[in-house]
Amino acid sequence: MRSKVISIANRKGGVYKTTVTQHLAIALGACGARVLVIDLDYTQASLTKSIKGSLMGTPQKGVMHLFLDKQTLPSEVIVKTKYSGVDIIGSEEMVMGRKIVIEDIIQSELGKNEILREFLENIRDQYDFILIDTPPALGSMTINAMTASKYCLIPTTADDMSTDGLCSLFDELIEVRKRLNKEIEPLGILLVGVNGREKIAKQKRKALKDAWGDIVFKTEVKINVKFKSLLEGQQSIFDVIQTPSEKGALEYFDLATEIIQKTKNNQTTRMNESTQEAL
Ligand SMILES: Nc1ncnc2c1ncn2[C@@H]1O[C@H](COP(=O)(O)OP(=O)(O)OP(=O)(O)O)[C@@H](O)[C@H]1O
Ligand SMILES: [Mg+2]
Repeated sequence: MRSKVISIANRKGGVYKTTVTQHLAIALGACGARVLVIDLDYTQASLTKSIKGSLMGTPQKGVMHLFLDKQTLPSEVIVKTKYSGVDIIGSEEMVMGRKIVIEDIIQSELGKNEILREFLENIRDQYDFILIDTPPALGSMTINAMTASKYCLIPTTADDMSTDGLCSLFDELIEVRKRLNKEIEPLGILLVGVNGREKIAKQKRKALKDAWGDIVFKTEVKINVKFKSLLEGQQSIFDVIQTPSEKGALEYFDLATEIIQKTKNNQTTRMNESTQEAL
């Protein structure tokens, strides 16, 4: 069985990309799936820090090695996390004590956009899901992620829904589809940072639905102060809640269930002309 590879992307910063990647992975793992997360946002490496711990000063290889040396083996970069079923390829911007810029190093390479896809060919049968966290920019790392993926999950705040962030992400998706990966399609737009005030949330959901239709996930991620206390800690919301049915955690189980369903039946909205018209 081939892994379902999902990029989590939006060029806008702070729209919960990393949090969604981490928590969705843990929820999918808890549902019995084998999951690999990949931290392509190597300059921040927030996913690595929060799910496993920083690679800084350790001999552990990560994303930067697989981009810089094509001979890198999966066993050299994949490590287990404390979460059931969840492995990670972590990242770090320092290699041998020097800060690196992967984009500059691979710039003139032929096939620079296919490096991750080629690497994943060797491990595609080992995981049910491979989730890729990307930086808040549409550069080489995000293009590599999209080239390697079947699906793209786009977290967005209601404020961003009709503005540049979402539209330029879809432009990029169309471009990647044309030139590099005809398989990629939107898995869904995930509304995050939803304010608990019911009326406003409803209005925003309606506006998002009107603009983007069925691509929008039914699940939405509400603002929850508990996520603030996770900063810097190697923790997820699942480590600090009292019961698994607590809201912040439940949302991610709902999202996992929706994604398992959508990808099982391949019910994603194909990026057909009507999707493009919505742009
Ligand atoms: N449900 C939530 N409620 C409130 N705050 C949250 C929630 N989920 C995540 N956050 C917080 O929002 C901030 C931004 O989240 P995150 O780092 O996941 O965004 P990002 O899109 O990955 O950012 P960047 O673009 O910089 O990589 C973090 O401080 C995180 O703890
Ligand atoms: Mg991030």
